Amino acid sequence: MSGVGQFIRGQLSTPPKPQVDLTGRTILVTGANSGLGLEAAKLLAQLNCDTIVLACRSLTKGETAKQTILQSISSSSGGRPQATFVVFELDLCSFSSVIAFSERCKDLPRLDAAILNAGVDLQEFTLAEGYETTLTVNVISTFLLATLLIPIMRGSAKKYSITPTLAIVGSAVHFAANDKDLATPAEGQIFKTLSDPKKADMKGRYFLSKLPVMLLVKHLASKLTKSAEQDPNNKALIVVNNVAPGLCKTNLFQTHADTSTQSRAQHHRAIEPAWSADVGAWCYGGKRDSWAVFERVSGQKV
Ligand SMILES: NC(=O)c1ccc[n+]([C@@H]2O[C@H](COP(=O)([O-])OP(=O)(O)OC[C@H]3O[C@@H](n4cnc5c(N)ncnc54)[C@H](OP(=O)(O)O)[C@@H]3O)[C@@H](O)[C@H]2O)c1
Repeated sequence: MSGVGQFIRGQLSTPPKPQVDLTGRTILVTGANSGLGLEAAKLLAQLNCDTIVLACRSLTKGETAKQTILQSISSSSGGRPQATFVVFELDLCSFSSVIAFSERCKDLPRLDAAILNAGVDLQEFTLAEGYETTLTVNVISTFLLATLLIPIMRGSAKKYSITPTLAIVGSAVHFAANDKDLATPAEGQIFKTLSDPKKADMKGRYFLSKLPVMLLVKHLASKLTKSAEQDPNNKALIVVNNVAPGLCKTNLFQTHADTSTQSRAQHHRAIEPAWSADVGAWCYGGKRDSWAVFERVSGQKV
């Protein structure tokens, strides 16, 4: 089935709400103060996850998210208010912030899963760390963080005999990326070339950013498989997957709607069929192809 067909078919059905028990687990979510990240963190708390790491751009945003989640648990019957919330600052526009964040993660008791969810869809060209900001946030810093978390997850895998999951949030819209933009730059110069303000096509930039996410997940998965094969126990130590949450109403598209009344109206029409953020977040844990995160981490079927 074509990418578009698959996307529409997925959007017409509702993913199941995960029902697994995450007692004893520690799970990290980036971009946990808004949209899908916030809903995923609420769900983790409802599923008895012991320690939930809220990685947010500022501690204030993280603390507000924590209060929102606590309120949502106390108003729902199935939740367990005694989950521990750890708020860590993480700004993906800054490589030093990513490194400092990963250093703090070394002090966590264990790490069962990391949901690298934070992302942007920007319409204006800006730079962060010398690269166009969408690329820095969605791709470069996300994979820098993934690389830095892998040794921490390996430590947990060995200590607790678990198979941690590294879930990197992609999007079905990668099929609409202009892949010529990735093919034409000289080898080793893709991100630099795409960061030229005169040539950057910001209308298609978000779509384009999710294509290297998907390709890098595949690359990372093959590297992790090879290194697991070399492990004396011949055991896959970390599972990496690419989660596509479908079209959901969140703050992601906020920069689309800030021009004319007509484009605001078009924007609202375009996201009208979207799922709510909580239904979208179920994709992070529910059965949807092989992408389920919570099912794998809990060892239970959803
Ligand atoms: N919504 C959809 O239809 C859809 C579809 C497919 C894929 N996705 C993906 O789902 C993920 C979550 O998006 P969402 O829809 O939930 O959007 P959202 O409501 O805008 O949430 C995005 C989150 O990422 C954080 N973030 C942005 N820039 C950051 C930075 N530099 N450093 C750290 N955190 C940063 C935001 O923090 P602030 O609040 O501080 O900005 C926010 O917490 C994204 O990867 C997106 O590409 C969404």
